[in-house]
Amino acid sequence: MEKQVLVAYASKYGATAEIAERIGEVLREASLATDVLPADRVGDVTPYEAVVLGSAVYIGRWQKQAANFLKANEEYLAERPVWLFSSGPTGEGDPVELAQGSHFPKALQSIADHIQPRDIAVFHGDVNPEKVNFFEKWMIKNVKAPLGDFRDWEAISAWATAIADALV
Ligand SMILES: Cc1cc2nc3c(=O)[nH]c(=O)nc-3n(C[C@H](O)[C@H](O)[C@H](O)COP(=O)(O)O)c2cc1C
Repeated sequence: MEKQVLVAYASKYGATAEIAERIGEVLREASLATDVLPADRVGDVTPYEAVVLGSAVYIGRWQKQAANFLKANEEYLAERPVWLFSSGPTGEGDPVELAQGSHFPKALQSIADHIQPRDIAVFHGDVNPEKVNFFEKWMIKNVKAPLGDFRDWEAISAWATAIADALV
């Protein structure tokens, strides 16, 4: 029987949703039966043998839908292969360096320590000046983060391919 994989995500303006969709495409190409769903729309996790969970980062935190999913399913996830990713930093160069060395939100680190994910990735994000509100644009300018779409589709696909290789 095909393995069931869940790719769950939290996204405010759609950039992280598109990353999750790309990961889902790569997993399906590897013959893994994959559902890609917003984290707050996942009813039951028990059919899934493996879970990929990602969130956009805002002011150093994951979106609450992804954080809630992680907390609510902590015990189940601790028994399964899990991969986590954040989407956020804009600009050229290593995304972890752009995020001032932050690899994962501090508020969720203890849960990640318990779950022991196979990997935690940080992907470049997309700050779309036509989508973010005035206050958000002001905040981004304040921290001197560039506006624009810096998502690295090659890095995202390569990460998803490594997940597929681990599961098939
Ligand atoms: C107000 C604001 C705060 C942000 N804070 C962070 C942050 O702390 N760390 C980070 O890496 N990215 C930060 N970002 C960048 C977003 O995470 C990035 O735009 C992400 O790709 C958005 O994903 P979404 O479209 O799925 O919501 C911030 C963006 C905005 C507009």
